[in-house]
Amino acid sequence: MEFTLQPGGRVNGRIRVPGDKSISHRSVMFGAIADGVTTVDGFLEGEDALCTLKAFQAMGVNIEGPDNGRLVIHGVGRDGLKAPAGPLYVGNSGTSMRLLAGLLAGQSFDVTMTGDESLNKRPMERVAKPLREMGAVVETGEGGRPPLTLRGGQQLKGIDYVLPMASAQVKSCVLLAGIYADGTTSTLEPAPTRDHSERMLQGFSYPVTVDGAKASLQGGGRLKGVHIDVPADISSAAFFMVAASITPGAELTLEHVGINPTRIGVINILRAMGGNLDVENERLVGGEPVADITVRYAELKGIDIPEDQVPLAIDEFPALFIAAACAKGRTVLTGAEELRVKESDRIQVMADGLVALGIDAQPTPDGIVIEGGEMGGATINPHHDHRIAMAFSVASLRAHDTILIHDCDNVATSFPNFVELAKQVGIQIEKRP
Ligand code: S3P
Repeated sequence: MEFTLQPGGRVNGRIRVPGDKSISHRSVMFGAIADGVTTVDGFLEGEDALCTLKAFQAMGVNIEGPDNGRLVIHGVGRDGLKAPAGPLYVGNSGTSMRLLAGLLAGQSFDVTMTGDESLNKRPMERVAKPLREMGAVVETGEGGRPPLTLRGGQQLKGIDYVLPMASAQVKSCVLLAGIYADGTTSTLEPAPTRDHSERMLQGFSYPVTVDGAKASLQGGGRLKGVHIDVPADISSAAFFMVAASITPGAELTLEHVGINPTRIGVINILRAMGGNLDVENERLVGGEPVADITVRYAELKGIDIPEDQVPLAIDEFPALFIAAACAKGRTVLTGAEELRVKESDRIQVMADGLVALGIDAQPTPDGIVIEGGEMGGATINPHHDHRIAMAFSVASLRAHDTILIHDCDNVATSFPNFVELAKQVGIQIEKRP
């Protein structure tokens, strides 16, 4: 699929973007191994979360839906999963592969997980290493990449794991393996990362102790089914926050957005750049803070992005780089080498696209330097990365010529109705198969 974007356009109205991807994955994983029924509203019907859902169906879990974002998961209990008939295909989804590796390392059966062209290039040694320390038998493909095979029948033991990088996927993997391990498992993270696993396990009545950067749990417990209300995904909302911030006359309200403190780097960074964002109607929904966010056009200025914001905005940098290209002056990002191992090398791929549009963008090993300027038109290759395709769609609002984006199929992994919502607010986007 290709997107064609005409330059200019408006950004006005009120929209609700789809459900949070991280919470949607976890709702299925935890609901599947819980005792009793878990109901989910607002589930993200994107390909990534659907891969997780299909993986559990393949392991014998009865899941009704998704029907308009509603799921009914008939939990099989912590030891109720069955060996799948073949490898589990998890598509583009790093979250599925890495969290499932933890959850499946202590099962009685063997499992192999495979992915698409993008996922097959991503590092899995980061989860294989702690799992092996726990006593799991884990095989990876060449260079520590997928496929990932877990050999069943191992008795895991709890470990205290010091994470070498700020990664919620690695933290979650170790904690999930800890449910099946003897004794206590703990993780110590170098910087705060999203804490949905810790919050949601507690919501499923599984005690998790959080003490600063350390999260611990005892093996051998059981989860109890619950009701989960999934907030709108701040990572999807981010494209529209940037769209409104860079478009003169814009005023857009994003409804019911999850504003978990470990996810709000995009709000903090846009505000530091001079963005005009009002966070209103704050409330707690199923243990997660949610708000309506109104964003109005503002003249942005370049900044040095504080490194402590990097893990809190880790998925939002493609969108933020577009904001930087539209800002006055220079934006400098450092401490973000993790961006090089996302669905694409987001530093290089974004730099290439920005340069094609006429922006001075210099990649560095752990970040980028972007000089704000004028954007022309270009043809963009998003390298199978949904967030690159959506970021350059938003750039059209300030471009002077047409932007053509190839290979946009993967937008459906996280934001299946992106084109429809973008059109609704006034972005001049057309898709072609
Ligand atoms: C996620 C964690 C992050 C993020 C990803 C979702 C999660 O990955 O980029 O989109 O749900 O735990 P890392 O843990 O690799 O930073």
